[in-house]
Order: sequence, then structure tokens, then C-alpha cells
Amino acid sequence: MDENKGTAAGSTGDPLAEVDALARDFEADAEEVRDAPALEELRARYIGRKRGRLTAVFDGLRDAAPESRGVVGKAANRARQIIEKRLGEIQTDLAAAVDEDTATDLDVTLPGRVQKPGSLHPITLALEEIVSVFTRMGYKVVGGPEVEQDFYNFEALNIPRDHPARDIQDTLYLGHDWLLRTHTSPVQIRTMEQQEPPLAIIVPGRVYRRDTPDATHTPSFVQCEGLVIDRDITMADLKGTLDHFAKALFGPQTETRLRPGYFPFTEPSAEMDANAGNGWIEMLGCGMVHPNVLEAVGYDPQEWQGFAFGMGVDRIAALRYGITDIRIFYENDVRFLRQFTV
Ligand code: DAH
Repeated sequence: MDENKGTAAGSTGDPLAEVDALARDFEADAEEVRDAPALEELRARYIGRKRGRLTAVFDGLRDAAPESRGVVGKAANRARQIIEKRLGEIQTDLAAAVDEDTATDLDVTLPGRVQKPGSLHPITLALEEIVSVFTRMGYKVVGGPEVEQDFYNFEALNIPRDHPARDIQDTLYLGHDWLLRTHTSPVQIRTMEQQEPPLAIIVPGRVYRRDTPDATHTPSFVQCEGLVIDRDITMADLKGTLDHFAKALFGPQTETRLRPGYFPFTEPSAEMDANAGNGWIEMLGCGMVHPNVLEAVGYDPQEWQGFAFGMGVDRIAALRYGITDIRIFYENDVRFLRQFTV
């Protein structure tokens, strides 16, 4: 084909033969075209204004004898139609190939990217459940500081400095009067200091103790405290309320029992056990608010009585979800946490 480049029909002699030849050459060359520049080169070589072989044939017509002009012109026109049609087809094919190339970036047969939504922590889930049982009974949710004063954490709760009960809770002290609260009970005092009775509060919150972690202890954990103060509150109110709570949490078949216990801020004090069908388990500490506590906040114990209770939410969550080692709550292993996705 290269030897034909630039050759004018007139100079090779028979223009009809040249049309036949260039048509055949074109078909062969067209097979080789793989991209847009090659296509443009092909177009220029055959029908380009300056050096197209077919263009040269048309140019030669001007000098051709009148009797051959019609025949050659007809053949040249047919060749031009075929060439232009073929060039158009090649252009379409190339464009489609480009589309296909681009399309490989988007493989619609691939599996989609699975969204991995976060989930609430099992302790948060248990806490929300506990709190909602009480808010439905009209309790108000209140909070308090985690860095606490000795007065609120111990003193006002009927635990003076030399009281042996201070040993029950290994305290993380921040100084003489300051500490990390060992329980949520100080919020009882803070609330009663600021509000007049009657009141019913539920207090979720984080607490701290100097404990070595094991299956049932962690140095920081979540508690939930409750306090009701009103006139004529008795142990029966405490029992009925907590029995309802256990049934709401573990199912209506759940039984509860109170065992004598000891807490400086309640008298009498008790531990409540629950049995949802597979044995008795300790659920929380509770009791009737000690008169010394009421006096510490300026309430008249002759007029106002109350009950209080406190529970470890980790413990409740462990019972709720069948967990035997509470340290797993704090390891943040996604394989564990993912199971609580709703
Ligand atoms: N504060 C206690 C603790 O941390 C739990 C507790 C027991 C709270 C009896 C109470 C209560 O309000 O009445 O072990």
C-alpha cells in the first residue's frame, strides 16, 4: 500500500484500474485500524483533500477524455460511498470499544460493599432498658460528678471517716477530700440537697474502685441507683417496685426474694435475688433510707421516709446476655460487639 501513497490516478495510467486497486487496498488497510489516529490516517490516505488516492482520481477527471469521464466518475463515486460508509463503521466500533474499556471500572457483577453500622454497647443497651422500666413508673433521670467529695461519697451517706464500711469499697483517692466516686449513691445526697420531697429518681453512672480485674470485677464500671422519698413509704413499696423491675427485665415468670444485707445508708438493708427459671442470682442492694441520711440533707425523718437501691449494670448485662466474664465488656473486640447490632 505504501508504494501507492500519493500516486495520482492519471500518472499510473488506467483510472478505472486505480479505483479497483485503491478499493481493494482500502479494505485491507481498514482491517489494520485499531485506534482513532490510525482511522484518521486511513481517511487521509484515501479521501484526504491533499493526498487521498481517490481524491487524485477525482482530480484526474478534469483532464480525462469526455467518454471515460462518466464511467470513471461513476466508479469513483461508488468507491467513495463504500469508503465513507466503512470509515463510519470503524469509527462506531472504536467508540464502542472505548465505552467497554471505561465500563471495566464498574463491574456490576461484583458483590456490593457491605455497610458496617455501629451498635450500642451491651452495657448501654442494658442501662437503657433498666432506666426505661423506672421512667415508665415516673422516676426522673439525674446524674452527678464522677470526681466526688468525701462528704457526698461517704460522710453524708452515714459512713464517717473511721467507719469500717470504707474498707468494703477500695477507693481511688485524688487528695484528702477528693476521690473518684465508688458508687452512684452520692447523687442521692446531691439531689435531696437541691430538691424538696417527694421525689423519685434513677441515677445511671460510672463508678471507680481500686480493684484487680477478674471475671466479676473491673476497676471502673456502671451502676444504676434509685431513690424514692415520700410520706408513708414502707418496705412493701420497695419490694413491690423491685419485683416489678425484675419481671420487666427478665420476664413475668421471674420470682424475687429479699435477703438481709448491710449498707450504712439504709436500715433495714437487703440484697435482692431474682430467679427467672434457672436459679437464684443476686441482683442488687437496697433498703429503707437511714434517718441519718435524711437528717444530713435536712429532711425530717418523722415526716419523710424512702427506699433506695443500687445495682451493677455490668452484672445485669452479664445476666441478660449470658456472659460469664465481664472483662469482655471492656475489651472492645468487634466480633463480640457486632453481635449487639440491631
Ligand atoms: N452503693 C451500693 C454499692 O455500691 C449499692 C447500694 C445498696 C445502693 C443499697 C443503694 C442501696 O442505694 O440502698 O454497693
